[in-house]
Amino acid sequence: MAEIVVVENKRAAGDLIAESIRALIESKPDAVLGLATGSTPLPVYASLARSFSERPLDVSKVRGFALDEYVGLPAGHPESYRMVIARDVIEPLGLSPANVHVPSGDVATLSTAGAEYERALVAAGGVDVQILGIGRTGHLGFNEPSSSFASLTRVKTLARKSRADNARFFDSPDAVPVHCITQGLGTILRARHLVLLAFGEGKAAALAAAVEGPISASQPGTAIQLHPHVTVVVDEAAASKM
Ligand code: GLP
Repeated sequence: MAEIVVVENKRAAGDLIAESIRALIESKPDAVLGLATGSTPLPVYASLARSFSERPLDVSKVRGFALDEYVGLPAGHPESYRMVIARDVIEPLGLSPANVHVPSGDVATLSTAGAEYERALVAAGGVDVQILGIGRTGHLGFNEPSSSFASLTRVKTLARKSRADNARFFDSPDAVPVHCITQGLGTILRARHLVLLAFGEGKAAALAAAVEGPISASQPGTAIQLHPHVTVVVDEAAASKM
C-alpha cells in the first residue's frame, strides 16, 4: 500500500517533496531524478529552486531523465518537453544540461530512440526518485489506457482526452501532436521510489482508481500498486474520491 500524504496546498506538497529530494542529493550527489512535465510537478521544482538559492548545494553531478516527449515538434518548440524541462527544471535548479535527458521525438530517429533511452537509463544506474503526475485518463507519463505494465520507452498515440487537456499549451487543439514517445510503465516501475502528485477535483477519479482500484491496463495509474515504495502527495480535492 502506498503511503498517502494529504497536504493543504500545492506549495506544501512542493516543499515536502523538495526536502526529501534535497536530502537524497546530500547523501548521493549524483542522484538520478525522474522528471515529470505537466503543471502538477511545478511546485516541486519551484520549492527545489528556492531551497537551492537559500541553502546552496552542489548539484553539478545530479542527473535527470524526463518521462516523455511529443513526436514531431520542431526543435526548439516552446512546448516540446525538451524546452519545458530546460525552462522549468534545468535553469531554475542550476542542473548541468548535459546531465539531463529527454527522449527524442525527432521523427528521423524514432525507430531507435526508445531503446537508446532505455540504455541510457540503465547506464545511469536507474532512477532514484521518480516524480509522477497523473492524467485524467489515468495515464502515467503518456502511457494511455491499454499500456502494458511491462512496457518500455516507445512511441504511443495520445488519447483524445489527453490531447484536449494539453491543448491549453498550444495555439489550437489541432496543433497538439498526435504521437509521443514515453517511458513505459515497466520503465517507471524500475525507479526505486515513486512520488505521485495530484491536485484538484479533476484528478480525484483517476487518483482513486490508481491507488485503490482493481489493477488493470485500462487504468495505467494502477501500476503503482505493483511497486514496493510509493508516496502519494495530494490535496483534499484530489483525495476526495478515495
Ligand atoms: C502530461 C504529462 C504527464 C502528466 C499529465 C498530467 O501531459 N505527459 O506526465 O502527469 O499529462 O498533466 P498535468 O500535470 O498538467 O495535469
